[in-house]
Amino acid sequence: MGISSRIPSFYKMSLEERKERIIDLFDLSEEDKQLLFSSENLPEDIANNMIENVIGTFSLPLGLGLNFLIDDKEYVVPMAVEEPSIVAATSNIAKIVREAGGFTTSATERIMIGQVQVVGCPDFDAAKEVVLKEKDMLIRVANDAYPSLVARGGGAEDLDIRILNEGESAYRQMLVVHLYVDTCDAMGANIVNTMAESLAPVIEELTGGKVYLRILSNLADRSLAKATCTIPPKLLETDRFSGEEVRDGVIHAYEFAASDPYRAVTHNKGIMNGIDPVLIATGNDWRAVEAGAHAYAARSGQYTSMTEWSVDGAGNLVGELELPMSLGIVGGASRVHPMAKLVYKMLRVESAKELARVIVAVGLAQNLGALKALATDGIQKGHMALHSRSVAMAAGATGELVDVIAEKLIESKEIRVGYAKKLMEEYVK
Ligand code: MEV
Repeated sequence: MGISSRIPSFYKMSLEERKERIIDLFDLSEEDKQLLFSSENLPEDIANNMIENVIGTFSLPLGLGLNFLIDDKEYVVPMAVEEPSIVAATSNIAKIVREAGGFTTSATERIMIGQVQVVGCPDFDAAKEVVLKEKDMLIRVANDAYPSLVARGGGAEDLDIRILNEGESAYRQMLVVHLYVDTCDAMGANIVNTMAESLAPVIEELTGGKVYLRILSNLADRSLAKATCTIPPKLLETDRFSGEEVRDGVIHAYEFAASDPYRAVTHNKGIMNGIDPVLIATGNDWRAVEAGAHAYAARSGQYTSMTEWSVDGAGNLVGELELPMSLGIVGGASRVHPMAKLVYKMLRVESAKELARVIVAVGLAQNLGALKALATDGIQKGHMALHSRSVAMAAGATGELVDVIAEKLIESKEIRVGYAKKLMEEYVK
């Protein structure tokens, strides 16, 4: 199917027109169409079975990140998020990058890690040795605990061990067993936790110690995905700044984040502005990816920028983002939430690896969008335009009145709900 993620003037269409366009583009079914046009896309009986103490559902806007060309494939990227500017910024940058040839991505093998904590071993070195000696048997035990994964071509593959806080007090000294599991297209929390729990009694018997924690690690550094882009400065120029000025501003902004945790946190928050909305829309556990991403950004011992920006020999701006991606395209909410199911039809990813590659490209685009704005006009110009629309709506404006009131708010530089209400009263008169 020859889909293009370039949909000119999409943002100018009415909501209905956009929906019709997407239904057409992806050849969506009557059922999908009803879902897209319905204001309730998570029925309460499904919600009631997803978590506890349910009293209702909570919706977010679902927007489409456009223009993405990643490894020569077109992607329309659904993003569920409440913050204005994110979808517009990512689509703008994706448009620039596609003119430069698109994003290039790669991914390592997808191995998730299960941790088993063993304390109180009479002899920690001997315990380590015996567990290593019985490695094959332990991997078999883990795989027997989840035969359906093995049938799908995945399973526990390897195991290693560390002794932490050697020679310290009984509370502090411990043996940690890492079980490495190929979880195929699942995020794998349930799989890995089940396997880690199955190992506990066997490990206790082998080591003479006591097992406490048996749980997945979200520092999924054996499930990495990387995106890069190379942009000629010409494509970065704006009406007020040359391409070289924008490029240099982005690199200075990056060096700030690379050197200062106070800035790195905000810089990285901007990256997660792109990543989390895709995780949410695809029914993934965004807290798991957030936690892993920030830990990975601190792997050198200093918390730093998740991205890297530099200039190549030809003067191009070169960007790179590599992150651990504990996510899946099966299991969890991904195939339970009706809207997430529809999202996959638009996203057209065939594996968890592919989803991870798309997500890091979106994160890289989002970061460039923020740095480009910050290093040139500042972000408030764009933000205020959108913020004034929210304020107009909070004051009760609907339809065309939203734009009219928002414009007046910007002109007056008084973007407050109270003032918007006053403007509305005057307008109605
Ligand atoms: C706001 O949500 C995100 C930014 O603060 C990111 C950044 O500073 O790089 C604009």
